[in-house]
Amino acid sequence: MNLDKIPRSNLERLLRSMPKAELHIHIEGSLEPELIFTLAQRNGVTLAYPSVEALRAAYAFTDLQSFLDIYYAGASVLLTAQDFEDMAMAYFRRAAADHVVHAELFFDPQTHTARGVSFETVITGLTRGCERAQRELGVSSALILCFLRHLSEDEAFATLEEALPYRGQFIGVGLDSSERDHPPEKFARVFARCRELDLHLVAHAGEEGPPAYIRSALDVLHVERIDHGVRCVEDPALVQRLARERVPLTVCPLSNLKLRVFDTLADHNLAALLDAGLAVTVNSDDPAYFGGYINRNFVETFAALPQLTPRHAYQLARNSFDASFVADADKQRWTDALDAVFAAA
Ligand code: HPA
Ligand code: ZN
Repeated sequence: MNLDKIPRSNLERLLRSMPKAELHIHIEGSLEPELIFTLAQRNGVTLAYPSVEALRAAYAFTDLQSFLDIYYAGASVLLTAQDFEDMAMAYFRRAAADHVVHAELFFDPQTHTARGVSFETVITGLTRGCERAQRELGVSSALILCFLRHLSEDEAFATLEEALPYRGQFIGVGLDSSERDHPPEKFARVFARCRELDLHLVAHAGEEGPPAYIRSALDVLHVERIDHGVRCVEDPALVQRLARERVPLTVCPLSNLKLRVFDTLADHNLAALLDAGLAVTVNSDDPAYFGGYINRNFVETFAALPQLTPRHAYQLARNSFDASFVADADKQRWTDALDAVFAAA
């Protein structure tokens, strides 16, 4: 397999067809406006928007918070385990079409328990969705519970307590929601407890927050991956460390564009991060809100950054398997499948 001999004209087809893992997807962010309206009707929930078109037209964000306000409102239609299962299956069908072979799904229990929907309802529906994805689509998956960082550490502890009876149904914890003024240190004790419980640890850092938040996610929370992390480039010593320690960064280009982290995709630092030797992956974050699922993130970013080559495409897919929380045998099997696609290109 000579990656440097593959013509760039094959690139889009390769990006679409290569097997890949998705490691940064908020399942509530996959809720399409059509499904929001279907569920609202099914559950008798009144929406602030008169139509699918009006809702979609409201998806004009200026920063992370302006998105989060609409994202939490959209999630208000989710009431039953069936709703969570339907949402997950809708995502898995899209993911399978994009040749995602494995997905690690974030979910935000506090968004639901605050509305009176029990943790059990949420995890039961999502688990059913994950089981069906394997059975019906051959897509492997796992769940990662995210704490909302705009809430307190005590509230995170309470959520962890509610979750522990279902410890076998999720593999790790993460940290999401409003990053500014909510540094990782705020959650030091709850992450220490999760570490004792042998949960995998990840955190959003360096999306809107400063590189110091990436450092404290690593040094205080002891996370294994950084979600986003694109602002690391403001701290060259940090970039060197991330490369040396092979800390994965789950980058989400269309999210960064829609939330104005970068003005245009041509300004995105994905190529710079890869060329600095970082273990970067490409992901969709909240695909229903940011204009596309994982393949669209790949295709649009490669179109905007002509320095990206088939070698980079291979590396990104390879990184997604290496950075995933699965057994080595699974990583090897998917890497072999990836190699076969590139060998035939
Ligand atoms: N950042 C922080 N919190 C989130 C995001 C994001 O991109 N998506 C859903 N919750
Ligand atoms: Zn995210």
